[in-house]
This record gives sequence, C-alpha cells and structure tokens, in this order.
Amino acid sequence: MKPGKLTLPELAAMKARGDKIVMVTAYDAPGARLAEQAGIDILLVGDTAGMVVLGHEGTVPVTMDEMLFLTRTVARTAKRPLVVGDMPFGSYHVSDEDAVRNAIRFIKEADADVVKLEGAGPSLSRVRAIVSAGIGVMGHVGLTPQSETILGGFKTQGRTASKARQLLADALALEAAGCFAVVLEAVPVPVAARITDSLTVPTIGIGAGATCDGQVLVYHDLLGLTEGRAPRFVKRYANLAEEIRRALTVYAGEVRSGIYPAEEHTYAMPEDELELFSAEGVEHAHGER
Ligand code: KIV
Repeated sequence: MKPGKLTLPELAAMKARGDKIVMVTAYDAPGARLAEQAGIDILLVGDTAGMVVLGHEGTVPVTMDEMLFLTRTVARTAKRPLVVGDMPFGSYHVSDEDAVRNAIRFIKEADADVVKLEGAGPSLSRVRAIVSAGIGVMGHVGLTPQSETILGGFKTQGRTASKARQLLADALALEAAGCFAVVLEAVPVPVAARITDSLTVPTIGIGAGATCDGQVLVYHDLLGLTEGRAPRFVKRYANLAEEIRRALTVYAGEVRSGIYPAEEHTYAMPEDELELFSAEGVEHAHGER
C-alpha cells in the first residue's frame, strides 16, 4: 500500500463517524489529478468508460485490456484517493478462478487498490474468492448496467416490496461475502436508507438519495461533458462541453484567418544566425540543384 493512501479501515471509520464518502469516476491522468486536488476520497475507474470515453452505447463491450490501460493511468496519478478497478463484463462471469485471475491483473498490472464487480447471486462466490486472495471488493446492486438487457434497460430497481427485500438481502449477502462497500444504483430512497442502516460497511449511492454513506457520479456527467438527456440523479456542476466547443471553434477560426499563431506563440533565432541562414544556399540531400 502506498504511503498516504486512504485505507479500507479509514473508510469504515468514516461511516461510523457519519462523514460522507465522496467518489467520482476517473479514466485518465488529468481527471485523476483534478479529482485528487478537489479532495475526492475514491476514484472509480468505471466501465462507464465504454460510454463516456470509448464511444460504445453501453458497458458490455469494454475489455479487460481497455480497463487495465485506463486504470493504470489513474493509479499512476492518484496518491491519496483509493483507486477502484471496475471488472468489465466477462471478466468474472465464467468462474471464481477466472475472477481471481482478472482481479489480480487489476492489482499487479494496473496498480488498482481494490476492484468492483456487479450483482449478488453468482457474484457472491466471486467476491468470496477474490477477498480470499487478499483483494478488497466493492459490490454494486440495484441498476447493474452490465445486466441492462436482463433488467430491461436503465431502470430504477427495487420499486416493489418484494424486489426491495431482495435488494436488501443481496446487499447483506455481499457484506457477508466480504465486500468493504456496496454501490446502490437507481433505487428508491427508503430502500437505500434501510440498506444503509442494515449494513456495517459503507453504501455509496448513485440515484439512491442522501442517506447513503457516500455518493458517486460519473465525471463526464457532473462536469457537463455528456450532453442530451441525463438520468434524474445527475447534477451538472459545470457545462464543460459548451466551454470546450466554444474554445475549439475560436481556435479553428483563428487558424483559418491567420490570427493564430501570433508572434508571442513563435520562437525567434539570433540575428547573426538568421543572416547566415538567409545568405547560404540550400543543400539538397541529393546534391545541388
Ligand atoms: O462504471 C461505473 O462508472 C459505475 C458507477 C456508475 C457506479 O459503476
């Protein structure tokens, strides 16, 4: 463990004290650096990279190699925040052995601190196996985007009493399996509140209301880099898409009109060297012409 890194016992203590845990996704070095400077506790290298960075419609196509590449850039940059490598679809679905092998790749090849995986049910034995290998696991229940097709799209989960009870049972089972925290995505507030009360480990909400022990948002969503209709839970704290588009449009206009580059953006050379340079003939690679 790197010196100064936020530890799992410190996270547990934050829940005990009632200090909110702040998590945001990160996919590259500038994002990780800015998030750390802003005092963010946890950086999730989420498989939402599929949508916000890699240009896919969902998270399912994201590969282990892509996740390792992104995680490595974040882990190289982040000093204090805990770096969570999100296990992509297919990396823990075949067997416990495969899940452990891929979790180890996140730790050894990408320098992640811990991993995250989705679901309960079959994922419980994966969690047990990975934790037994000495790797911390963050669980994720409610709307689990890797199961988007089975869930019938990106929809709120746990809206009936029986489904809410199932969510509570799943979260408790993840805690019993060894998860150090559980993400609750798109679940009604009373369900998230009951789960948060029932678990000894922290819950991190996304679309799960303010009673969770912490919150997570996708970097591109909260900064306004994604456009169009956003889920109800997204709050845009900036409109960077507009700002970036404006800057790029001005740049394109200035290049085309010759305003950029101006003198202050160019390099000079000593006068005497310039005179020599101007006086001498041009030597061609294939002799004088
Ligand atoms: O992949 C991701 O970014 C996530 C968060 C939305 C929780 O799983």
